[in-house]
Amino acid sequence: MNKKIGLLTSGGDAPGMNAAIRSIVRMGVYQGHEMVGIEGGWQGIFDKKFLPMDFRSVSNIIQKGGTILRSSRSEEFKTTEGVKRGAKILDKEGINALIAIGGDGTFRGCLDLDSIWDGQVIGVPGTIDNDVYGTEDTIGFDTATNTALFAIDKIRDTADAHERFFVIEVMGRKSGFIALSVAIASGAEEVIIPETKTDLAQLASELSLGRDKGKRSSLVIVAEGSNQGNAYEIAKKLEEYSGTPYRIVVLGHLLRGGSPSAYDRLLASELGSNSIEAIDQELTGIMCGKRGGKCIHTSLQEAVTLKKTLSSNLQKLQPILAL
Ligand code: F6P
Repeated sequence: MNKKIGLLTSGGDAPGMNAAIRSIVRMGVYQGHEMVGIEGGWQGIFDKKFLPMDFRSVSNIIQKGGTILRSSRSEEFKTTEGVKRGAKILDKEGINALIAIGGDGTFRGCLDLDSIWDGQVIGVPGTIDNDVYGTEDTIGFDTATNTALFAIDKIRDTADAHERFFVIEVMGRKSGFIALSVAIASGAEEVIIPETKTDLAQLASELSLGRDKGKRSSLVIVAEGSNQGNAYEIAKKLEEYSGTPYRIVVLGHLLRGGSPSAYDRLLASELGSNSIEAIDQELTGIMCGKRGGKCIHTSLQEAVTLKKTLSSNLQKLQPILAL
């Protein structure tokens, strides 16, 4: 049956969201559906920002960062009343399926909508944080880690030239996927993540020991959500413990922008088209992810309640390889 399918991006944007939009729109039109972009995330439903889309609406966007549909974090859609109002508007527009690209916050909205709306609701994981259960990688994670590496390698050059200590903060409010990955890939000396408790006094003495053993520079990667505070607080404590000055770099939103990597474009293309297949199979309340080279479906309930864990192998490896 041909459907009218709404599509939105929500939460923090991620490189590759445009590639996903392109894939969803083109596969949707190819399968005979009517495609409607909703601009500005969940808020776009309330604002009635509905944009008819066809093959040409998504030309020349696969390589672009950001999201042509724009994004937001809608407070109204977090309330029961808001979700009911949103569902009514979707019905009025004749929309009978909705695909939302985003992270766990977006999927909570999807789940709430799915519980009260007759239409189908499908999630596609797009967030630089990679903290979504039900998929090995989220769209944007690969690009964000490469962007961070590009910056950290440059910091290493100057740190080495001046024999300095640096604390570098990367995004990750609740998870250390970016921090751990870039720490290993950049050869950083230490990493501080929300998942584990770090003893800063011990970390400071390890860094001093490294210096005694001939290390010319030391980089500490911090996830923004670390339980030891942000980069400024951590640097201050490390300075107190060691008496050595630390330089601070916060990479922040830099990681969210830029042209997506080949990996993210491919992942977005596959997951996007798979979300249309899911609609054609009359599924609802699921997220399209990828595991072991295959597209898989996870219930949105599991995607928002189960926690994806960091690789214990990578966690063990990081301090050994940094010796
Ligand atoms: O999209 C996820 C994320 O980038 C987190 O890593 C970060 O904590 C958050 O979004 C920042 O959000 P905002 O742009 O709303 O400050």
